[in-house]
Amino acid sequence: MIPIAQTVYRVDRSYSWNYSHAPKLPRMRRLPTGPGGRLFDYQLNSPLGIAAGPLLNSRWVEVYARAGFDILTYRTVRSSFAPAHPLPNIRPVENREEAAVAVRRSGVNGRPTLAISLGMPSMEPDVWRKDIHRAKERLGPGQVLVVSVLGTVPEGGDREGLIDDYAQCARWAEDAGADVVEAHLAWPDPFAGQPQAIYEDLALAAQILHRVRSRVGVPVLAKLGAFRTQRQLHETATRLAPWTHGFVLIHGFQRRVVDESGNAAFEGEGRERADIVGADTFPAASRQIGELLSWRRAGCWDRVVLGVGGVTSVDRAQHLLREGCDGVLVATAALYDPQLAVRFRQQQASAVA
Ligand SMILES: Cc1cc2nc3c(=O)[nH]c(=O)nc-3n(C[C@H](O)[C@H](O)[C@H](O)COP(=O)(O)O)c2cc1C
Repeated sequence: MIPIAQTVYRVDRSYSWNYSHAPKLPRMRRLPTGPGGRLFDYQLNSPLGIAAGPLLNSRWVEVYARAGFDILTYRTVRSSFAPAHPLPNIRPVENREEAAVAVRRSGVNGRPTLAISLGMPSMEPDVWRKDIHRAKERLGPGQVLVVSVLGTVPEGGDREGLIDDYAQCARWAEDAGADVVEAHLAWPDPFAGQPQAIYEDLALAAQILHRVRSRVGVPVLAKLGAFRTQRQLHETATRLAPWTHGFVLIHGFQRRVVDESGNAAFEGEGRERADIVGADTFPAASRQIGELLSWRRAGCWDRVVLGVGGVTSVDRAQHLLREGCDGVLVATAALYDPQLAVRFRQQQASAVA
């Protein structure tokens, strides 16, 4: 495992620096064989993959595909260029009662909990469309490319503008080579009076998924965040299931983030709250994923479920797979522990032997 200060994504450098510096991981002469898996019509080497975020472009995709991750999510792309927030973008935190507190180190054994305040940077469509094509060419057999898309409200635009923009990005992603498109719905709802995410406006989320599905031929996933109540989780799944082929959850937990003196940990308007991800979130994320799986078992709907949120060890990944997830994705662990897929494959192989 990489010591906490040495992430493969350099948290002390800008997003654009990281964009042009994909990591070099030690090359394995032979990867252990994966246990196999299936996602839609695709046969997989293993059901372990990378969530939207760490794979900034095709060079990052290539590195993690070689490291044995088999579901590779190309980070969220948009219909026009968007810059990242200024540094810092990623801070280790401790979850305390009042807020998440930025600390020098968090977690044990290099398994941190992070606050993420990156904004939602994207290259221009011309750039990412070519690059997704390249990413697809770099995958081996038994690996799939998911592309995460986020809609933007055009200037002076309305809900219809946002819905159409999601569909446009999805179409471009498919044309460029995406095997699966993921609609990022755990993003602030630009039309809501109070702070809420797009997936919490069920009518809007359903319209986005419906439009995306009618515009692309590949399977569509909906990325969802944390639920306030069990009832909200049930209603969301039931309402959105007809319009999506699957769910990816839990995106993260929105919290206020401060430093040790109580000041905002990320400077700038709209950055008081950030997504908390990584090790500490596993108990809450796995509980909600488990609840969604029970709801599916109850026969209310039948869609793919990809579990994400705090999976920082092989045991945690196996726990979610045993619960019934069709696949498990990691983001924080991808940054700190890129050898996780190798250990996952080794443990599966020894369990079978
Ligand atoms: C550095 C970083 C960047 C992220 N960027 C995105 C993104 O672009 N789109 C998205 O849907 N989620 C993004 N996420 C959230 C992850 O996809 C994931 O939902 C979250 O980190 C929880 O997984 P984890 O606990 O394994 O980190 C990002 C996460 C990290 C750590």
